[in-house]
Amino acid sequence: MTRRKLVAGNWKMNGDRAALAELVAIAAAGAGAVDVAIAVPATLIAPAVALVPGFAIGGEDVHPAETGAHTGCLSAALLKEAGASFCIVGHSERRADCYETDAEVKAKAEALHRHAMRAILCVGETLAQRDAGQAEAVVTGQIAASLPEGAAADWLSIAYEPVWAIGTGRTPTVADVAAMHGAIRAKLRALIGAEADAMRILYGGSVTAENAAALLHAGDVDGALVGGASLTAAKFVPIVAAAG
Ligand code: G3P
Repeated sequence: MTRRKLVAGNWKMNGDRAALAELVAIAAAGAGAVDVAIAVPATLIAPAVALVPGFAIGGEDVHPAETGAHTGCLSAALLKEAGASFCIVGHSERRADCYETDAEVKAKAEALHRHAMRAILCVGETLAQRDAGQAEAVVTGQIAASLPEGAAADWLSIAYEPVWAIGTGRTPTVADVAAMHGAIRAKLRALIGAEADAMRILYGGSVTAENAAALLHAGDVDGALVGGASLTAAKFVPIVAAAG
């Protein structure tokens, strides 16, 4: 099956209103054969949407509840009202910093779906888990435990981000990436049947203009989730080009 590639950026806790100017060139790169999206800090969602209307701007986290006493959190409805069309859930930085569990990640994705938003669900093993030969079991276990009800390719993508490759300049070999994406696809098939063949599985972790072509054309890789290199058009647009 042919799956249209998606190259998404994750600005994390970086950028400011001045930095949004980068989105103009990034959005222009998104008009081609590859889907492009950028997740930004919550306070930048509305100004980003105003600057590049029609371009996919997303949030980086969402609370699973609709409303209530959750100081400092944002619901799917609030993100949507600000203009976000998608949101990342289960990023390893939130799993580590905020102790997010698979069950919470699942509930967050389901909250997005209730509001007709798209989700990018992140999974990935630590270096200790990889060294112990547990990478595939950890990742497929995260998929099994955090895959939302109603998971379907038109609103959900998976991002495989080995924790040890994030922001480190280290990446797995292309063969290792292909093997893990194949294992994720197989797990998805076991869980949701043929829908798994339409679902995009992105790779994330130190993707750059230099390594993007090899990583993005590995087996079962349907795009990338890019951190540091998504902050400027000069670094991000070549990654989008490599995906095409
Ligand atoms: O979500 C993207 C991310 O964790 C990868 O970050 O900076 O290694 O591309 P980076």
